[in-house]
Amino acid sequence: MSNQNETLFERAKQIIPAGVNSPVRAFGSVGGIPRFIAKAQGAHVWDANGTQYIDYVGSWGTGIVGHAHPEVVEAVREAAVGGLSFGAPTEAEIVIAEEIAKIVPSVERLRLVSSGTEATMTAIRLARGYTGRDKIVKFEGCYHGHSDSLLVKAGSGLLTFGNPSSAGVPADLTQHTIVLPYNDVAALKQAFDEFGTQIAGVILEPIAGNMNLVRATPEFVQTLRQVTEQNGAVLIYDEVMTGFRVALGGAQSLHGITPDLTTMGKVIGGGMPLAAFGGKKEIMDCISPLGGVYQAGTLSGNPVAVAAGLKTLEIIQRPNFYENLSARTQQLAQGLTAAAQSAGIEFCADSVGGMFGLYFAPQFPQTYADMMASNVDGFKQFFHAMLDKNVAFGPSAYEAGFVSAAHTPELIDETIEIAKQVFAQMK
Ligand SMILES: Cc1ncc(COP(=O)(O)O)c(C=O)c1O
Repeated sequence: MSNQNETLFERAKQIIPAGVNSPVRAFGSVGGIPRFIAKAQGAHVWDANGTQYIDYVGSWGTGIVGHAHPEVVEAVREAAVGGLSFGAPTEAEIVIAEEIAKIVPSVERLRLVSSGTEATMTAIRLARGYTGRDKIVKFEGCYHGHSDSLLVKAGSGLLTFGNPSSAGVPADLTQHTIVLPYNDVAALKQAFDEFGTQIAGVILEPIAGNMNLVRATPEFVQTLRQVTEQNGAVLIYDEVMTGFRVALGGAQSLHGITPDLTTMGKVIGGGMPLAAFGGKKEIMDCISPLGGVYQAGTLSGNPVAVAAGLKTLEIIQRPNFYENLSARTQQLAQGLTAAAQSAGIEFCADSVGGMFGLYFAPQFPQTYADMMASNVDGFKQFFHAMLDKNVAFGPSAYEAGFVSAAHTPELIDETIEIAKQVFAQMK
């Protein structure tokens, strides 16, 4: 039988660069042929060959209630019949904004956009506009979408300014971004000692998910809140991944931190393009047309995306949703760890809420450097062997994984049983 994934990949490459619309999908860091997805339901996806996989990608964290949840699909259908886009305000936008503000109390005002990138790009523009300062602090290994100011890697010294991490980004722009090591309290204090009055804002993945899962330490986030407050800089919690994922109220509810601005995406759109930024009224009122910071979007607050988001927010607030989700994710992390141990493989796994990290390393990483030191070849072997046995993890050692409400205890057990065979082979 011909391999439809391979055929489609060859065809895609003739018209779409690398055959994909977002780089990690190309399997570049693990090698092999990406699976072209034909459909998804609950905890499963099916590829173009009709092969079924247990899915731990969940559209990179959006699919918290499971793929094609019947209630979400029905809400989308109903909204679509009423019109796909108006470019004018709707009542549903108010309802979802009120709902988000109820769940995330640091959000006093909120705007809807269509992608996490737009949300973070606008949040830093807003921090700059509000403070009248240019410099932004970000942390090594955190990803905040692909806007120019945030595509930055660390410079040569601790407090030198960042260099572009993408061609096409002017160094003139990234010289305003300071890149610091994650979880490094001393470096953070040093940066504020030196540049405190020039720093507009700090943007943070409060539990990083783009260098695999890395938890911020309590001391780190408390120091961050202190130094930003003392220096009049805006603290931005980028909860595009962690929002409604690690807990209903996001990482900020776990940290007990009130950020000035929060960016959200993924879960709030329930699988449709919807994201948001919000926070303190005083800062948010700087947004156009109230203030001078410009931001706009033809499809912002799209009625179909809002309908999917609203239904998703309703489902995740049902009794025991997060208790069950966390228990399933823990079951996976603990089961995989035990399986690896009994096979004598150096491996550990961590989870927070419905998000997990798999590390081919002796202990949980705390920084990007720790993560880079892990056994990436071990991950690649594991990834492909699991995929061959119909379990799909994200195709990169540096991405977190996601469990949904549709992952039953039996499916998690099945995954662990498969992993036992894979770890034994790897040994
Ligand atoms: C923490 C974080 N911020 C921002 C983004 C960008 O979101 P989007 O891909 O919707 O533009 C991502 C995407 O994965 C993310 O994980």
